[in-house]
Amino acid sequence: MKLRAATPADLPAIFAIYDEQVLHGTATFDTVPKTATERLEWFQANPGQRYPIIVAETTAGVVGWARLYQWSPRPAYDRTAENAVYVHADARGHGIGRALLAELLHLAPACGVLTLMARIVAGNPASLALHEALGYTRIGLMRSAGVKHGALLDVWLLQYVLDDSDT
Ligand SMILES: CC(C)(COP(=O)(O)OP(=O)(O)OC[C@H]1O[C@@H](n2cnc3c(N)ncnc32)[C@H](O)[C@@H]1OP(=O)(O)O)[C@@H](O)C(=O)NCCC(=O)NCCS
Repeated sequence: MKLRAATPADLPAIFAIYDEQVLHGTATFDTVPKTATERLEWFQANPGQRYPIIVAETTAGVVGWARLYQWSPRPAYDRTAENAVYVHADARGHGIGRALLAELLHLAPACGVLTLMARIVAGNPASLALHEALGYTRIGLMRSAGVKHGALLDVWLLQYVLDDSDT
């Protein structure tokens, strides 16, 4: 398995993985798959091409992806970003999610990100365990944050502070 920067050519594979959760899961609160145009906009919604989008690739093709998102356009939040990590259902439990998230943590300081945030639905033990295994801490529970598939859902907010200094 190798990790590399994603390109627009990876969008079909990235969204094949993501749309499983859009349509059938609660890992994302998106509920409608993106069109081809919207997928490209998602890829390009990256101020200054600053935030990494990476994929995990095996001989079977792209089996997972991860990215950082701008947390807020308000300038004082500049050091904070949100992460996402998704692994194909057939490839889970083999260390791919851990490798992707560890790589984001490795890449974050070089793009000026020193505080990472994750929003994880309360019924997602795999994602909670993955993030906590890599050092994220739960800082709060957003109660009744959303409704999907007819269920009212709570969302954990997790944080990883890479650097507490004010420079
Ligand atoms: C969450 C997800 C990315 C984990 O990826 P993965 O490749 O299966 O995870 P890994 O094999 O790298 O496991 C890393 C750690 O996560 C934890 N973990 C993974 N799957 C788990 C599960 N089903 N139950 C409990 N803990 C689990 C373990 O602590 C594991 O550590 P270990 O290797 O020391 O045992 C994957 O399950 C996934 O894509 N789920 C759907 C999308 C999703 O929930 N994304 C996150 C949105 S917030």
